[in-house]
Amino acid sequence: MIYAEILAGGKGTRMGNTEMPKQFLKIGEKPIIIHTLETFLLNSRFEKIIITTPNQWIQHTNDLINKYIPKAFIEKIKVCAGGSDRNESIMSGIKFIEENYGLNDDDVIVTHDAVRPFLTHRIINDNIDSALEFGACDTVVPAFDTIVESKNREDISDIPRRDFMYQGQTPQSFNIKELINLYNSLTKGEKQILTDAAKIFVVKGKNVKLVQGEVYNMKITTPYDLKLANALVRDDLNDK
Ligand code: CTP
Repeated sequence: MIYAEILAGGKGTRMGNTEMPKQFLKIGEKPIIIHTLETFLLNSRFEKIIITTPNQWIQHTNDLINKYIPKAFIEKIKVCAGGSDRNESIMSGIKFIEENYGLNDDDVIVTHDAVRPFLTHRIINDNIDSALEFGACDTVVPAFDTIVESKNREDISDIPRRDFMYQGQTPQSFNIKELINLYNSLTKGEKQILTDAAKIFVVKGKNVKLVQGEVYNMKITTPYDLKLANALVRDDLNDK
């Protein structure tokens, strides 16, 4: 089976003082999370789409789904509580899948930030294919700016070759059983450092394939990003 997990368990603190976590704010006519969900719903390869949100926002998320999503699609969507950090949210979605549908050896999960509403069908399909064939993949774009490393936060310790550098986006997609095994093998300390799910595979010596992302597959993090996303949505509507 192929599952999607939309990660909406965060608080969005870098967005500043908003009445609700950023994934529920509107861009154009609809909440960000609904834009993201609609793109996943159009892909018929998914068995279920799991959304993880903070516990106190589960009801609100279900209300939004009932308001914006046609009835015929709603059965495919399940909302459950996220975790204390991003990886914990991923794992709580996986626990939900395991408890409700069981797990097969070749099941894969496509995990995606709710706050990246501009992903494409090509990116989703490349993630599914890559996760099925190789067990793990990460969506990236080549780094445009030179990356400067400073280990003491004052002086440059390295300037890596830019042509080897990429910026990580999502989706990140994994064989589910492999992710569970690797995550359970981490110590508490490792779990605190390894905030990126793909990095868990990398530090455990597993291959993670690159999937080509898109610059506009941006993450909405700050008020500036929200303005930019609104402009992109308006532009998109003008094109139609
Ligand atoms: N996320 C999650 N569970 C958490 C933390 C984050 O599912 N415990 C999700 C967010 O909802 C978001 C995605 O992971 O869709 C990317 O995280 P980020 O942009 O860092 O979101 P927040 O943690 O919400 O933002 P901030 O760091 O500004 O508080």
